Amino acid sequence: MSWGSGYVTDVAYLPGYYRQQSPADLAVACLLGNVRSDIPALYEAMSYLELGCGRGLSALVLAASNPGWHVTGIDFNPAHIAEARQLAASAGLSNVTFHEVDLASLTSDAASPIPQADVVSMHGVWSWVAPPVQDGIVRLLAAKLRAGGVLHISYNSLPGWQAGFGIQRLLHEAGSRLAFRSDRQVSAALDVVKQLHEAGARHLTAAPLGDDPVARLTKMPSEYLAHEYMNAFWRPVFHADVVAALRPAKLEWVAAADLLENFPALMLTEAQRAVQERFDDPLMRELIKDMCHPRSLRHDVFVRGPRRITNAERDVALRELTLALTVRPDDFVYEAAVPAGKATLGRAFYEPVVAALGREAHLVSELLALPDLHGQRDIAAELVGMLLGTGQAVVVARPGAAPERTAQRFNHTLARSLLRGGSNAGGAAMASFRLGAGLAAIPAELLTLDMLMEGGEASPEAWAVQAGMATDTAVQFRSASETLLERRSPVWRLAGLC
Ligand SMILES: C[S@@+](CC[C@H](N)C(=O)[O-])C[C@H]1O[C@@H](n2cnc3c(N)ncnc32)[C@H](O)[C@@H]1O
Repeated sequence: MSWGSGYVTDVAYLPGYYRQQSPADLAVACLLGNVRSDIPALYEAMSYLELGCGRGLSALVLAASNPGWHVTGIDFNPAHIAEARQLAASAGLSNVTFHEVDLASLTSDAASPIPQADVVSMHGVWSWVAPPVQDGIVRLLAAKLRAGGVLHISYNSLPGWQAGFGIQRLLHEAGSRLAFRSDRQVSAALDVVKQLHEAGARHLTAAPLGDDPVARLTKMPSEYLAHEYMNAFWRPVFHADVVAALRPAKLEWVAAADLLENFPALMLTEAQRAVQERFDDPLMRELIKDMCHPRSLRHDVFVRGPRRITNAERDVALRELTLALTVRPDDFVYEAAVPAGKATLGRAFYEPVVAALGREAHLVSELLALPDLHGQRDIAAELVGMLLGTGQAVVVARPGAAPERTAQRFNHTLARSLLRGGSNAGGAAMASFRLGAGLAAIPAELLTLDMLMEGGEASPEAWAVQAGMATDTAVQFRSASETLLERRSPVWRLAGLC
């Protein structure tokens, strides 16, 4: 076993930005869970800590979007930390620090270099690491998350992953006997899975991977597969067990960070809700949701000392939020597939909202007061939940703020690093001072924004070649960038990116 105590250390993980990690979205989740959130008051000076930060993209995007914050990332893999530090240095970010630390070794020592935090996030860590690492995390949270502080945690959840235990075990056991490096182990093991699947192995065709797990898995990047399947302590968990594990740090579960999950009508059928409504214990209600919902990864929000608020107080806070669209009004989708069926955003109500947001960012209170809107107007929670939960809007932390140099420099650095192939960021994002968060983006968007910001007379193709793209890729980039300029640049302007 390597120094990783069973966690994969020989292949770097994929960089990615996840919006559930953004304090702006976490603040909304708290409100939807009827808990007061101090996050908006901290927009100008926040201490944000990410545990198991991987190559640091989420931490870097948040630091670049919020020059007044101090962002700290912890990971024990020196390759991850080196890359995160290098990107921070190239982008001139001085408000982010990366520590190479093993979470298992952390004590509650107040003198440790890890600062007190207002918000802690750990994505993709908890259910993949050994029990002593989980114990270290709980000690750290108890010592370093401030009173009233917010925790985001994601984990492989049960029963969603129940039928996946066999395939993970098979991949891990077969892989470790067939190859040395973990990405090669997983691809060698996939061949065994394929052969056994064709031979009719009973436990290879169940959820969460569907009827043809091999077809699904072979489409996924080998770095992802290695970090998902090749860890010795891979253990999906029930929500209530995570709640119990975090209790010694005085953390209480308040809401789901995937915002739509906070609306039972979207998650459960009427008959399922009838069972859920027999209970007022939130953990029991979550168990019933998890029994009905096929998803296998949960994103949860905990607070150290939640202060409960009424629906009326919640709505006052929600009405003070400013929202911006992440899609053009023409691209807005009024029907979303949800576990309970279809969620329809009634056009009589939402079309005027979308049209107003297409012109500029608006306060929720302004949207609810639009003159041509038909329907009930006291639905701040539904409006915010649907717009943000479907990913079609974001919170604007600093309405009207001009594009800021730190974020622009970071976006340029990330775009150039993508060009060099240095950061294979499938789930990239653009840093925005106005949003105080990232705007999710595919790599071609970052490159197109970079071209736009560079100005000049060059055609996209000529710009791409001059920026270092191979000639054949530059030809493909020309048509992609023309479409992106038309469809995405209005959104970038509203997000204060250009
Ligand atoms: C699946 S990756 C997630 C990375 C990042 N949060 C993301 O979502 O892109 C899990 C991360 O936890 C880190 N990790 C695992 N065990 C650790 C430990 N004992 N101490 C610190 N970091 C650890 C790994 O190096 C890896 O970067």
